Amino acid sequence: MVYLTRSSGVLGLTDFGFRVGEANLRGCTKLRKERFIHMETATPQIQTIVSMPFDENSYVLSLPGQSECLVIDPGFDPQQIESVIAENQLLPVAILCTHGHADHIAGNGYLKDRWPSCPLVIGKGDASKLSDPEGNLSAGYGFNLVSPLADQTVKDGDLLELAGLKLRVRETPGHSCGHVVFVIEGCQPPIVLGGDVLFAGSIGRTDFPDGSFDDLKKSIHEKLFTLPDETVVLSGHGPSTTVGEEKRSNPFVGIECA
Ligand SMILES: [Fe+2]
Repeated sequence: MVYLTRSSGVLGLTDFGFRVGEANLRGCTKLRKERFIHMETATPQIQTIVSMPFDENSYVLSLPGQSECLVIDPGFDPQQIESVIAENQLLPVAILCTHGHADHIAGNGYLKDRWPSCPLVIGKGDASKLSDPEGNLSAGYGFNLVSPLADQTVKDGDLLELAGLKLRVRETPGHSCGHVVFVIEGCQPPIVLGGDVLFAGSIGRTDFPDGSFDDLKKSIHEKLFTLPDETVVLSGHGPSTTVGEEKRSNPFVGIECA
């Protein structure tokens, strides 16, 4: 049995990720500590770092007893990510970004400075956003954020073998044209690192320049809802959910709403 833990986070005034953020944000509390999800078999230990000002979830994944870890979507609190890594005596072997929006890449530079040999991985279609403040949306919020460039770009079907884990890439455009999710293969229940595609009771915003609701709905139905119902979706904002729960009840893309 392993646990998913969540570090503290405080609500932001706005966000990059939610289509209907208010309802979700109101469901959060100011401090969210040690929220546990039980996983029944050999699955990675997952630690969640929630960063201001967009309430974005960064994740640190490692297999029990192993020192290598993955960092997913480093947000605006890379120091906290570094602390989690240090406290657990881990070594990051890759930074994986689900997409190139600022709140998911803001910590890349700090982590690359700290661990220069740690490769930065992102979907091919969003790689240009790393160095483009307009594309990564930071310019629109009044700050010009750039990240180190990608060391590796990935596309649909690619398999990454990192930190003892196998992660299958699925392209999921709609929130961002180059958005990808990472499906961890071989663990039970299955886990998908879902970024800003599907949230608990909500979906990612589609009002950005390269967003499309039709594309997002198609991505969710073809790339997420085809996973087993028990698949745990670790979202880029808010609490985790499962494929089955969102199929049944998601007001935007649930099967009954299709
Ligand atoms: Fe986003």
